[in-house]
Amino acid sequence: MSKKIILTGDRTSGALHLGHYFGSLINRKKYENEYETFIMAADVQTLTDNFENPAKVSSNVFETIADNLALDLDLDQTTLFIQSQIPQIAELTVFFSNLVTLNKLLRNPTIKTELSQKKELFGEEGESVNFGFVGYPVSQAADILFIKADVIPVGEDQLPVIEVCRDIVDKFNSIYKPVFNKPTAMLSQAPRIIGLDGKAKMSKSLGNAIYLKDSDEETISKIKVAKTDSGTSIEYDPENRPEISNLVMLYSLCNEIDIDTAVNDLKGLNYGTFKSKLAQDLNAYFKEFRQRRVEIASNPKKILEILEKGREKVSLRASQTIAEVRQAMQIDYENKF
Ligand code: TRP
Repeated sequence: MSKKIILTGDRTSGALHLGHYFGSLINRKKYENEYETFIMAADVQTLTDNFENPAKVSSNVFETIADNLALDLDLDQTTLFIQSQIPQIAELTVFFSNLVTLNKLLRNPTIKTELSQKKELFGEEGESVNFGFVGYPVSQAADILFIKADVIPVGEDQLPVIEVCRDIVDKFNSIYKPVFNKPTAMLSQAPRIIGLDGKAKMSKSLGNAIYLKDSDEETISKIKVAKTDSGTSIEYDPENRPEISNLVMLYSLCNEIDIDTAVNDLKGLNYGTFKSKLAQDLNAYFKEFRQRRVEIASNPKKILEILEKGREKVSLRASQTIAEVRQAMQIDYENKF
């Protein structure tokens, strides 16, 4: 039996951070032998809210791919590619766009939250949001379905977007022909890391992140000024003490221990001591990753080669899916009249 397929994507608005790593990247490495994996630099999706900034979008393709390659992936099992190089994704997006209502997209919790974080661009009430941004869940369904992925490693914030994809599968299969399986989301142990400033999500655009490529010194100084509370004891209580709990979570992740063990380890430490310990442990955890990343980033030609191989492999599958879709939708004119 052939392996099940993982597909996942990263927006190319900046380098990847701890939230991406513990939310999704960690699973790409963990399951690389069990699944056939496809990792996509989602440049087209990134343009939806960065359309005025194309240089940022394209230069960060390099950063996100370098971050992924630093996972030391087995490139016989994992394929990396760029979204805009697969025109069939855009084609599927157009077909799928008929199967979703505008109302449903505007009410999607992920879209709503993101609109509230992008008021400068899209207006106080989201009144100036563009068509592309509201529709990104449809294009994301095309990302997932063109390769017929089964499993999607994502952070918790993306669950409502994956729901849109699952709805599209139901609609497509029932109106046309059963071409697609329903994919499922795969959450990690840490589906959400909050920002160092206490904001709900660690995020490139909110400027509250530790990047995977940050140096030891940058990590130390960012942790040092991370928001905590006025309490004195270290506890894990994400509801009432979100900031300190987030740091405890990071501590447990980079030491590969569970939360209870972490809390027990940290008992009696003051915040300052805890923070320097955490920064040290993070730096130790990412030491080899960071070494590999420096090496990878020094060889852009190699990255381009890997992406070209990925484009070729993925294009073949994309053409097969599109042929099936066109046939199901009765727009396969070469066999028609
Ligand atoms: N929307 C995802 C994010 O913001 C990125 C993404 C684009 C993605 N296409 C995808 C994730 C397909 C999973 C599958 O992180």
